Amino acid sequence: MNHQDTAHTTDSSTLRNQVLSILLEEPGEFVSGADLSERLKVSRTAVWKHIRALEEAGCNMESVHRLGYRLQSEPDVVLQPVLQKYIETDRKLGKFVQWVPVVDSTNTLASKLAKEGAPHGTLVTALVQDGGRGRRGRPWFSPKEGQWMSLILKQPFPLSRAAELTLLASVAIRRAIQKQTGLKIDIKWPNDLLCNGRKISGILAEIRADGETVHSAVVGIGINVNIPAHAFPSELKDIATSLFAESGQTIRKVPLVADILCEFEPMYNSLVNGTAGFVDVSEEWRQACSTLGTKIRLQTGANLLTGVAESIDNRGVLYLRTDDGTVHQIHSGDVLF
Ligand code: BTN
Repeated sequence: MNHQDTAHTTDSSTLRNQVLSILLEEPGEFVSGADLSERLKVSRTAVWKHIRALEEAGCNMESVHRLGYRLQSEPDVVLQPVLQKYIETDRKLGKFVQWVPVVDSTNTLASKLAKEGAPHGTLVTALVQDGGRGRRGRPWFSPKEGQWMSLILKQPFPLSRAAELTLLASVAIRRAIQKQTGLKIDIKWPNDLLCNGRKISGILAEIRADGETVHSAVVGIGINVNIPAHAFPSELKDIATSLFAESGQTIRKVPLVADILCEFEPMYNSLVNGTAGFVDVSEEWRQACSTLGTKIRLQTGANLLTGVAESIDNRGVLYLRTDDGTVHQIHSGDVLF
C-alpha cells in the first residue's frame, strides 16, 4: 500500500489488514507472533492487539502457544484483504474498504470520508449500525447479521440522470443475490428488493450536485443477510425478511458484496460515459418489477395516490393511472405495502 492508499484508513486498521493479509497468504499454517512482529515492524503486544481486533470483527482465529496464529477458516467479514480475493485488480469499486465495528450510519460516515477526500470506489461498511437510515427519514434495522455498506462514487454525471443510480444498483443487487442464493428476487419501484413479497434489501442514495452535475454520490445498501426471522422487531415482522429466513442457509457476505460491486461497476461506468445507463438493463428491471401492471397505493410527497402502475420509462419515471383516468408521471415516491 502506498501513502495514498492508506490516507483514509487509520494506522490501526492498516496494521489489522496487514496482519490479516499475512494470515490469508498462509491458509492453514501457523504464523508466529515473532514473525508477524518482525515483518510488520511492530511489537508482539501490538500484533496480539490486532489479532484480538480481528477476532472481534468475526475472524475465527486459532492461537497456539509457541506456534502462533492461524485462521480456522476464511473470514466472512468485508475487510479489505478478504474482499480483494474476490475482486479483479483492475476494478475500482471496493478497491478501498473502510470497515468499522459500529457506526450510526455507513452513509453518514461515507459522506464525511468523501468530503475529506476518500477515493472513488471506497466501500464503507459496518458490522452494526446504531442509527441506520432508510428512505424518507425512517430508521433502518441494522443488526450484526446483515450487510450494511455505502459506496463512494466520484465520477461526475448529469443531475437529470440521478434516479438511474438506484435503479442500476437494484438490478446489480438482484443479480448478485440470485446468483449467490438461488432465491427469486423481485423489485418494487423504485428500488426495493423483495423476496416472496417481503423486503430483503433497500437502497439509500445521497448525491452532491453542483448546478446540473452530480459530483459525488454515496450509494447506501442494506441487505438482510443472515437475520433470523424471529429477530425482526414486531413492526417489521410482516413486511421484512432475510436471505437466511428464505433460503434456510447461512449466506456468505463477502462473495455477495463482491458480486454486487462487479455487477454495478460497468452499469455505473455506462451512466458516467453517457453511453447507456438504465436503458441497457431496463428490460430486465421491468421483468423483475412486481409493481408494474398492479393496483398500488403510492405516497409521493404529502400526496397519497391510488392507481395502476402502467409503465416505467428509460429514466425510471413511473406512469400511474388513477381511477379518473389521469396518468401521473411520478419521479419519486414510495409504494406502500
Ligand atoms: C430504504 O428505506 O429502503 C433504504 C434503506 C437503506 C439502508 C442502508 S444500510 C447501509 C446504508 N446506511 C444507512 O444508514 N442506510 C443505508
